[in-house]
Amino acid sequence: MSTYFLKMNGLPVADTFISNDYYEVEEMKTKLTYPLVSKRFHGASSREVDLIKNPGQLSRFSRKVFSFYGKKCTNAYFRQKNYVYFQRFIEGEGMDLRVNIVGNVITGYFRKPKRNDFRASGSGIVIKEDLPIEAIRVALKTYSAIGKAMLGVDMMKDENGKYWIIEISPFIGVITPIQMKVDDVPGCYFLLEDGTLEFKKENYWPQELALRVFFEQTYLSSVEEWKKKHIDPALRRGSLTKRIGNS
Ligand SMILES: Nc1ncnc2c1ncn2[C@@H]1O[C@H](COP(=O)(O)OP(=O)(O)O)[C@@H](O)[C@H]1O
Ligand SMILES: [Mg+2]
Repeated sequence: MSTYFLKMNGLPVADTFISNDYYEVEEMKTKLTYPLVSKRFHGASSREVDLIKNPGQLSRFSRKVFSFYGKKCTNAYFRQKNYVYFQRFIEGEGMDLRVNIVGNVITGYFRKPKRNDFRASGSGIVIKEDLPIEAIRVALKTYSAIGKAMLGVDMMKDENGKYWIIEISPFIGVITPIQMKVDDVPGCYFLLEDGTLEFKKENYWPQELALRVFFEQTYLSSVEEWKKKHIDPALRRGSLTKRIGNS
């Protein structure tokens, strides 16, 4: 549903093929571009994400998925049964870029795969560096379309420099309030009405910010009013600019 939702809203979600029909998958298998990134609806830290390298491998895979018991997965309690979800493999630097937005507070970081793997999330290699403005813009548009208190948007940059959304998460794993660093300084960006992203040396637990935004959006105003005030004016201006605050 999230994939269709992103697509319908004109957001750059990685090209995805979804099917619940064994015969449709068989018919498509020579028309798809390999490798395919196969994902299951459950699981985090790359545990349910695999590569399918050619049509033969796809057939073996889908025979298991569309079998009576479904395909065994990493998670012992779920099987992949009667659905396939394939994304185009994004060729590029191979880094996964997470932007997390809670209200007008923006943080994020990069993750890199371990050697010999293509999967970055869960690798433990986190690089806290300044975020590209274009990725922030994509994440803000996505956050506005979803219209909830918090959203993590994972993106990858392709060989032409375009950012593609590979996953969105309403909740993210958090083990520290330091969710971003710019020039080694921990902090976060605040989105101002005029499209300025002001970097401040302030750190928050995202859950606490999310609770605040939830109360604001639910009891003090509505999501629509809230977005009109905090997100839409900046997005409408078309260009975002960074500024270092707290100096
Ligand atoms: N379309 C894609 N192209 C290339 N690599 C991908 C693609 N989708 C996911 N990956 C890699 O696999 C990892 C896990 O995928 P993701 O969909 O984010 O699942 P998870 O919920 O486990 O984090 C990502 O961190 C990324 O490195
Ligand atoms: Mg992910």
